[in-house]
Amino acid sequence: MDYSKKHNISVYLTEEQLDKRIAEIGAQITERFRGESVYLVCILKGSIFFTTELAKRIELPMTIDFMSVSSYGASTKSSGVVNVKKDLEHSIEGENVIIVEDIVDSGNTLSRLMSLFESRHPKTLTICTLLDKPDRRVVEGLQVDYTGFVIPDKFVVGYGLDYDQRYRNLPYIGFVEE
Ligand code: IMP
Ligand code: MG
Repeated sequence: MDYSKKHNISVYLTEEQLDKRIAEIGAQITERFRGESVYLVCILKGSIFFTTELAKRIELPMTIDFMSVSSYGASTKSSGVVNVKKDLEHSIEGENVIIVEDIVDSGNTLSRLMSLFESRHPKTLTICTLLDKPDRRVVEGLQVDYTGFVIPDKFVVGYGLDYDQRYRNLPYIGFVEE
């Protein structure tokens, strides 16, 4: 990793915009599952900031768990399996599972995760993503239940999202300028 390299990053979504939108999604999820509990699954590492902010805005009994999966390169794209590097700690059978993602791009990661999670028999399975780049989708029929912001096909960093592991700690979402 070349730490000497500096990038120009332009702010696209401010911390205030993110906070406001996440509060709205939290309220929607609270209404949707009123009287029940939810099982929040943070997909590491990109979703950590979004998950913690969202969790604070959901007023329901909650379990928070973490999963780490590796993304395949183009050559293994058709394998249809997701490589789980760190699995959940508990059974999700009968749970209202909410998968929290940072960004849906091609949709490959999420569609594979959906199959894996469905095989574990949750009561309900919901997808919640902070960002969506629909122009880049290659997977058909992926249903995302909650989306923070639909963004153009540009590379973004900050608020958990990285460029070669950098910039996750930016409190906003920004475009990396070429
Ligand atoms: P996909 O939907 O399977 O193509 O993969 C989505 C994953 O790719 C996300 O969870 C991110 O880790 C990464 N990703 C996609 N677009 C971006 C971006 O603009 N910035 C940072 N990471 C990205
Ligand atoms: Mg990710």
